[in-house]
Amino acid sequence: MTIHLADAAATEDFGRRLAAHIRPGDVVTLTGTLGAGKTSLARGLLAALGLPGEAPSPSFAIVQPYAPPETHIPILHVDLYRLDGPEQLDELGLDEALWDSALVVEWPDRAGPDAWPQALGLTLEMDDDGGRILTARVPSGWEARWPI
Ligand SMILES: Nc1ncnc2c1ncn2[C@@H]1O[C@H](COP(=O)(O)OP(=O)(O)O)[C@@H](O)[C@H]1O
Ligand SMILES: [Mg+2]
Repeated sequence: MTIHLADAAATEDFGRRLAAHIRPGDVVTLTGTLGAGKTSLARGLLAALGLPGEAPSPSFAIVQPYAPPETHIPILHVDLYRLDGPEQLDELGLDEALWDSALVVEWPDRAGPDAWPQALGLTLEMDDDGGRILTARVPSGWEARWPI
């Protein structure tokens, strides 16, 4: 299913709406080239989960964790762009974190094709009109929550 996002505010708003549905144990993957709007969507999500101020991009830290009272639920904002390889992925402890946290993962392809099959998979592409096209891969665990 695809959604047209006319401007950056629409991307952030989609992230805000996602916040009403995300819960610990969920993985949301954000795929798209540099500048596609992945961090914008994550910022909207984090803001709607209560985060004061603008979330930093996690590109250097790889994992940027948030927890109550800063956000309503524990959530890890992850950017795998600079991941050195699958071995480093294990060191991040993301699967353990899923026991009590939600994960929002930019550049999930860096984790290999078999990572997080149950994730809500969101892909952002540039549209000719300057906006973005969001395509969602909705797994069984999200069907009752979709469309958001
Ligand atoms: N739907 C949209 N239409 C136009 N510009 C957008 C849209 N969504 C985000 N942007 C803009 O695209 C730029 C890159 O966004 P960003 O979230 O940093 O991308 P990424 O994390 O995928 O590299 C930002 O200037 C942002 O405001
Ligand atoms: Mg980004």
